[in-house]
Amino acid sequence: MNKASWSRLEQAAKAASARAYCPYSRFPVGCAVMSGDGTIASGCNVENASFGLTSCAERNAIFRAIADGATSIVAVLVYTPTPAPVTPCGACRQVIAEFGGDARVRAICDGSDMLEYALRDLLPDGFMLARE
Ligand code: THU
Repeated sequence: MNKASWSRLEQAAKAASARAYCPYSRFPVGCAVMSGDGTIASGCNVENASFGLTSCAERNAIFRAIADGATSIVAVLVYTPTPAPVTPCGACRQVIAEFGGDARVRAICDGSDMLEYALRDLLPDGFMLARE
């Protein structure tokens, strides 16, 4: 991932956060992912009156990437309009692992702090099934 690729993800994640549907938490999240072929997909959190049906920005971005033809994810960028960055929840880490075992995960916010991890460090020894 070079600087230009991160910057494209940043732009896409920020645009996605503006489309978050979060009337219950008032906590918008935007995410953009880069697939192995360089394609970018983005997503926002979409909440539901039945709270457990809420879907996180990260999962929405990844599912969109896969539905659009991506087969692997190399980078994930999460943006929240908060003073400090937030990292993907446990469920989203598991979904990232499915397609991006070697992915880089970056979290940015409106403050100057930025976090970056290898997915492996966010989800050590994550559950996987052997594939045919
Ligand atoms: N949320 C995300 O979109 N991604 C995360 O990694 C954590 C939480 C959303 C879910 C819910 O709409 C709001 O943030 C508050 O939890």
